[in-house]
Amino acid sequence: MAKQQQALQAIRGMHDILPEHSPRWQWLEAKAKQVLSAYGYQEIRLPIVEKTELFKRSIGEVTDIVEKEMYTFDDRNGDSLTLRPEGTAGCLRACLEHGLLHNQSQRLWYYGPMFRHERPQKGRYRQFYQLGVETYGMPGPDIDAEIILLTDRLWKNLGIRNKVELQINSLGTSAERASYRDILVTYFKQHIELLDEDSLRRLESNPLRILDSKNPAMQAMLAQAPVLLTHLGEESLAHFNTLKATLDAIGIGYQINTRLVRGLDYYGKTVFEWVTDELGAQGTICAGGRYDGLIEQLGGKANHAIGFAMGMERILALLEQTDNLALEAVADVYMIRVGAAAEAAGMQLAERIRDHIPGLKLVVNCDGGSFKSQFKKADKSGASYAIILGDDEVAQQVAALKSLRIEQEQTTLPFADLLNTLHHWHTN
Ligand code: HAM
Repeated sequence: MAKQQQALQAIRGMHDILPEHSPRWQWLEAKAKQVLSAYGYQEIRLPIVEKTELFKRSIGEVTDIVEKEMYTFDDRNGDSLTLRPEGTAGCLRACLEHGLLHNQSQRLWYYGPMFRHERPQKGRYRQFYQLGVETYGMPGPDIDAEIILLTDRLWKNLGIRNKVELQINSLGTSAERASYRDILVTYFKQHIELLDEDSLRRLESNPLRILDSKNPAMQAMLAQAPVLLTHLGEESLAHFNTLKATLDAIGIGYQINTRLVRGLDYYGKTVFEWVTDELGAQGTICAGGRYDGLIEQLGGKANHAIGFAMGMERILALLEQTDNLALEAVADVYMIRVGAAAEAAGMQLAERIRDHIPGLKLVVNCDGGSFKSQFKKADKSGASYAIILGDDEVAQQVAALKSLRIEQEQTTLPFADLLNTLHHWHTN
């Protein structure tokens, strides 16, 4: 006899979404799509695998993602490929490749799994789902405000607006960042004894990221660090001020977080994050910013871009703390069939019902069993009604209809009347 094999398990940090949970994902996805379409955004579907070079050139060589988190492997022909750790790079690559940025603006969204080899913990996974938005061809700050308004509307529609806070900052132009970088490095060198190992490593390669350190021992020093906002040029400052004024005028509250620098290198000017303190350490549910410079960096003509991505698992975790997740039952109606004639006639009747009432969720009991066991399954399905077919009913071309949720006499109806009754119930 063959030895029993040990059961395999999913990869750490990569999770199955089980049938009992998929309705809440679908609900969230539907809410998001509704808002996106209300603002005229179009879907773009992108490959999950791209050339490794794309991510190195866009996210930046000296970032956590590129240095240690990418799932990279050699294709059979030797090309280095990577499972996308985020969607911005691939989206821009596709737009450049297909000429979508020629003399036109774009408002796009994408949805799907992203992959990062991070240390898994609550809210941080190795495969996670992002819904991302990217816009092109608009210099802002009106479009900057629009994408923030869009997210604000989504939180309201989901009923989680009171749990999240908007943080904004401006990273200025690359020239402004370069001169600020020198000022910052000088400051850090004056406090070099306070820098931890990670920060020392970043001092030359990516000093702005030191501002993002969560190390408690460094917080007092970081709080005194020079602030990029006070080193912005006139144009960057005007951009930021107009964004703030637009948000003020519409009544969207925000915090200016001068240490918000983001973990990807492509940003300039506006950056923002929606954060919550209800999810522990992984409190950012949505983040993004402007990345005009990346377009030329990837071989395009000078242009404008801003976008964001939201972490679906984190939003669901917030939603699970509310009772806003309106979950639908699997079935509206459950058909119970007992006896050989009923089994044969039931399938046909079910097809007639589905023809007659598109949209009705009808589950037919398929693995036999007693009346009692079938009733149990009908109840568990969440159905409002059970159709009961026995051989006697089939002989008379009738079926019994029983409410599973409210006190009501069971009725026996000819097939045609059954169709009409269910139709009436379903459409009212
Ligand atoms: P990001 O900040 O790396 O930005 O990720 C955006 C969001 O994805 C995070 O705020 C978080 O909600 C979620 N997320 C990231 N990593 C994980 C993880 N390991 N597990 C669970 N959720 C995670 C970007 O990816 C940019 N592409 C956003 C963007 C679009 N910027 C401009 N356009």
